[in-house]
Amino acid sequence: MHILNFSPAYTVYTVRPTPHKHRELHRKQAMASPAERSSTCHAKIPDFLVGPVGQPMPAVGLGTASHPFVEEEVRASVLTVLELGYRHIDTAALYASERVVGEAMSEAVCCGIVASREELFVTSKVWCTQCHPELVLPSLKKSLRNLQMEYVDLYLIHWPMAVKPSKPHFPMKREDIVPMDLSGTWKAMEECHRLGLAKTIGVSNFTTKKLQELLAIANIPPAVNQVELNPTWQQKKLIEFCKDKSIQVAAYSPLGGQRIPIMNPVRQSDVLEEIARARGKSVAQISLRWIYEQGASMVVKSLNRERLKENIEIFDWELSDGDRLKIGRQIPQRKLITVQNLLCPEGISSVDISDVDVLEI
Ligand SMILES: NC(=O)c1ccc[n+]([C@@H]2O[C@H](COP(=O)([O-])OP(=O)(O)OC[C@H]3O[C@@H](n4cnc5c(N)ncnc54)[C@H](OP(=O)(O)O)[C@@H]3O)[C@@H](O)[C@H]2O)c1
Repeated sequence: MHILNFSPAYTVYTVRPTPHKHRELHRKQAMASPAERSSTCHAKIPDFLVGPVGQPMPAVGLGTASHPFVEEEVRASVLTVLELGYRHIDTAALYASERVVGEAMSEAVCCGIVASREELFVTSKVWCTQCHPELVLPSLKKSLRNLQMEYVDLYLIHWPMAVKPSKPHFPMKREDIVPMDLSGTWKAMEECHRLGLAKTIGVSNFTTKKLQELLAIANIPPAVNQVELNPTWQQKKLIEFCKDKSIQVAAYSPLGGQRIPIMNPVRQSDVLEEIARARGKSVAQISLRWIYEQGASMVVKSLNRERLKENIEIFDWELSDGDRLKIGRQIPQRKLITVQNLLCPEGISSVDISDVDVLEI
């Protein structure tokens, strides 16, 4: 396979900036209500505008944290989604998927599935073991080498927690947790942006309290907060807070995640199933459409072409008020991913991390 290198010295594809007309359309779409957005949208997947300059971020992206991680499966899913019209791929230093994501994206450019790198939106994240002021920039540079790209579109602090420097891994030892220098770490993120290596910067798994701490010291506010969000973990307080502060919420585990395939709270929800049956949609589509109607973008993982296609067929219809009420009132709330999932069960942390895991409803 021919790998096309995205670094300037090897760039062999045409750079095609987003025409002004398209930017104006993106702006109108992002400002419109979800219902208006779906009716005025020409592209298959609409954009939200994020960050100080309003960078278009596709409402649906492909998640590439795959358990178990099989490189060829992830490569195939990236190529499949690019063919289907996705333009946003979510990766992280932790996922071991950056290299294959970069390879599949350059292959897509080479084959003409995608016109140029500029059409794509790539998110990556710095892991807890590199959440130290002096390690953020080297971690991003390593991610860029893996991706074979000059920049990422969005760079996130993966969790508001620092662990002794080592290769990104989990579960992590509780004894290795160290106090996080949030101010120094965020300054390093701002430096990544200033250097042009990250078009926008943001966070992940931040509660309203953590966001408040960050907003008090940030020169550049976080553009995005990527969090667990779906009808079984609705995050009303966080969504309101982020709306107020112009922080775009991005949903992860929008279908309840991969860890609980049987009796998955989203995919096996009776309430969602009833709505899905009545509307002739799948349960997954009801969940994704609900997320979109909250004004959130999402990253969803699948290795199956039909499901990947189904997951973006959510923009030309709406939930009814009755559906929204049922989802809002009848679904028990339960957070699936907590910081405890990232840590070894044994051991004791000398750092109080109880504020990382506050459950805000
Ligand atoms: N920032 C963070 O801390 C964080 C944490 C977790 C995840 N993430 C990101 O979010 C992405 C998505 O979250 P996730 O991977 O936890 O889980 P998810 O997207 O909620 O669910 C993925 C699971 O749902 C299945 N699925 C996908 N589409 C479906 C459909 N239409 N119908 C039925 N089943 C369907 C997939 O199986 P098949 O593959 O068999 O289709 C897969 O097992 C991750 O890949 C990662 O990029 C970020």
